[in-house]
Amino acid sequence: MPLSIVVGTQWGDEGKGRITDLLAAEADMVARYSGGDNAGHTVTVGGQIFKLHLIPSGIVQPNTISVMGAGMVINPQRLLDEIDGLTARGIDTSPSRLKLSTGSHLILPFHPLLDGADETSRGRATIGTTRRGIGPSYTDKAARCGLRAGDMLAPDFGQRVFEAVRSKNRILVEIYGLAPLDPEQIADEYRSHANRLSPYVADTSAQVHRVLRSGGRVLAEGAQGTLLDLDHGTYPYVTSSSPIAGGALTGLGVGPREVDRVIGIAKAFQTRVGKGPMPTEQLGPVGDMLRGTGENPWDEYGTTTGRPRRCGWLDLVLLRYAARVNGLTHLVITKLDVLGSLDPLRVCNAYRVAGQLIDSVPFGPHTLDQAEPLYADLPGWTESVTNARTASDLPPTARQYLEFIQQQIDVPIVLASVGPQREQIVRLGDW
Ligand code: GDP
Ligand code: IMO
Ligand code: MG
Repeated sequence: MPLSIVVGTQWGDEGKGRITDLLAAEADMVARYSGGDNAGHTVTVGGQIFKLHLIPSGIVQPNTISVMGAGMVINPQRLLDEIDGLTARGIDTSPSRLKLSTGSHLILPFHPLLDGADETSRGRATIGTTRRGIGPSYTDKAARCGLRAGDMLAPDFGQRVFEAVRSKNRILVEIYGLAPLDPEQIADEYRSHANRLSPYVADTSAQVHRVLRSGGRVLAEGAQGTLLDLDHGTYPYVTSSSPIAGGALTGLGVGPREVDRVIGIAKAFQTRVGKGPMPTEQLGPVGDMLRGTGENPWDEYGTTTGRPRRCGWLDLVLLRYAARVNGLTHLVITKLDVLGSLDPLRVCNAYRVAGQLIDSVPFGPHTLDQAEPLYADLPGWTESVTNARTASDLPPTARQYLEFIQQQIDVPIVLASVGPQREQIVRLGDW
């Protein structure tokens, strides 16, 4: 059972990219299973920082094959830009090691326009989307009128694009009062994208199975996070896909019996971009300290949109929830180094909701806005942990912080990261 799933346990940006990169060293294939270029995954190797939006983070490791699964939505122009950017930096992105599922859906130019128009029409109740067209393209998928990567191989692909633009122009013009798009011009553009991308299009489910059947190891890379899941997140403040571990099965086309490990990635504190409830958010100096000023590449500003992230104390009620809905077998804690100098460290362990004490998510996470967080205080540390590589290198209070999380969540913490570099990792337990 050599399929491992890497899943975000919070609201995204937990450090999935850098952990995927680390684990990819021992994988034959890394496969992204959901989302689109709303994701921004950072991998730091020496002086090089890679920001990946569509291509799996495994591409940075030379011996892996990278797959973009059927659960993804693909903006072809952005994929080509990413391929060109990586190629220019010496990364092999040829079709022999990068595969695009026939079933992945294509983002067309009207999708970002509709995303923006939807957001504007919501007035104050905006979701704060990345405006990349993610919601509208998954809407078309569910409505069964989307175009898929496999359609790029059809001789009449340009004509299909033409028809799709013509049909959506009515909505752009009549509902939102926007200017119509030029169907002929977009059809030409997409014909040219199809020419370049066709060699990458493949039956990726079959390829994943081939690797698994031959005894190889596949790492499924999640995007976004559990609390942004369309079904199990803080609806309606969610994305339109299935970031949870179950999404890896539908998004890649594999069965549950293949799954060996479900590795949850959690930041040592809480962050969120966009709107929606966040019980432990800190609006004062603690939030500012966790966010950083933007001077460091790892400070809490969106990898995709550059927006400042909302920051707060670690929420164990939500992490317990994530352990349940994903079936986590292992936990990885990232950005432990950022907590240095905060004393005490607060950790939310329960909520008070309508006068009652509750240590699980109340009636589904959509009622989180009524939850008052209750905290346990733990001692902090002042010494730098960035050079720690084993548990014994960590200050006792940092070990205590990790042990508290492990005990509360009841999932073993196998790794903790202490800086963005590939080697800035503390190995805490066996797999
Ligand atoms: P992802 O979307 O889950 O892959 O996470 P992002 O890449 O969007 O955001 C994580 C940010 O934290 C990136 O800038 C990483 O380089 C950085 N990062 C990851 N792990 C650590 C860590 O242990 N310490 C520090 N200081 N930064 C980290
Ligand atoms: P990674 O993979 C953090 C958030 C947006 C918004 C909501 C819906 O880097 O962890 P969408 O554009 O998806 O319709 O926006 O989801 N969001 C993310 N937040 N990290 C991400 O990806 C995100 N992808 C979407 O900010 O609140
Ligand atoms: Mg990110």
